[in-house]
Amino acid sequence: MILKSHILKLNRIQTSQNRDLKNGALLDRNERVDYFNSSTFKKITKSISRYSLNATPDVQNLYKILAKEHGLKKNNIYIGQGITEIISHILFSVVRKGEEAVFMHPTYPMYEVLCKLHNIKFKLWKFDKNLGLNFNDFRKLINTKTKVVFLINPNLPIEYEFKKSMKDKIRKLCNKKKIVLVYDEAYYHFGGKSEINNVKKANNLIVMRTFSKAWGLPGIRLGYMAANEKLCQYISKCRSLVETNAFSFQIAQWAMKNKKILKEHIKQVKSGARYLKKKLESLNEDFHGGNKTNAVILKLKNKNSTNNLVKYLSRKKVYIRSNFPDPISNYVRISLGSPKKLSKFIKEYSNWKKI
Ligand SMILES: Cc1ncc(COP(=O)(O)O)c(C=O)c1O
Repeated sequence: MILKSHILKLNRIQTSQNRDLKNGALLDRNERVDYFNSSTFKKITKSISRYSLNATPDVQNLYKILAKEHGLKKNNIYIGQGITEIISHILFSVVRKGEEAVFMHPTYPMYEVLCKLHNIKFKLWKFDKNLGLNFNDFRKLINTKTKVVFLINPNLPIEYEFKKSMKDKIRKLCNKKKIVLVYDEAYYHFGGKSEINNVKKANNLIVMRTFSKAWGLPGIRLGYMAANEKLCQYISKCRSLVETNAFSFQIAQWAMKNKKILKEHIKQVKSGARYLKKKLESLNEDFHGGNKTNAVILKLKNKNSTNNLVKYLSRKKVYIRSNFPDPISNYVRISLGSPKKLSKFIKEYSNWKKI
């Protein structure tokens, strides 16, 4: 056969299509819920040089800025088109045929998609009914074939943060078994504790960061990883002609010099979290999250009602997410933004409950 059977079997679903970006409440994808005001947008677009479009991008300056930010050297950083591309490059360059990856479940769905795309066997460290993780379950997944472990910290859709004691046990096991340990710190800025200061001294540790979450710039598709020089330069061989396009790297450079957008967005998410949790408490709802990430999951009667609510809200231009696996199949997820945007959800949710 001309085509590869594992790719033929792979089911790709495009989510969040046809949303009304201007008038809708985008609460389905953990993006920046509130768009940039026109003055900030103007400043961002002004940061793109007229002389940059006719030349192949040179991202060296962004490397310097990111390295300085983390007290690392340029060679400790590898920039990619989002954490998503970096996951792909790690899997491609580190895992050989017959070897395995381990990651949490449920988590960012692209982990599963990318393993399937690369034809890599994976094992799932599953959350229990209490929305927690058990180290003994993890230990059972590790064997001589395990090559890479991804820890999403903090995690979503089930908000979960690893305690130091659990991190220590995992690190020791990975060191002993010569496993590459990757921390996905996509949601770090909302309240996680980072591992980035440990990358220099470890030969098997990678930390991934993104401009898609707290920076509020998922549109530029930019992220990066930090690791010791040897591992980092090895994985960076996977890059395309250059790491990214002229727009993305210049906007990221602008953002790094204008941390106000990061701080204000975090503040907005925190005030949205307070608002939403208070409202849900007053409605006597069962919910989880909103402390270390930019999302809350809300428990409904059953799976049917989750899909029903999503459809109902979508007609009102309020977009949220359902279709999660166990133990949260009866939950919907609401991304956090300003109380004003979240009040649209509360209003329509209250209407739906009356039907
Ligand atoms: C845990 C996690 N990692 C990574 C991503 C995607 O990051 P990026 O936009 O940098 O590819 C997401 C997006 O939802 C995520 O939830």
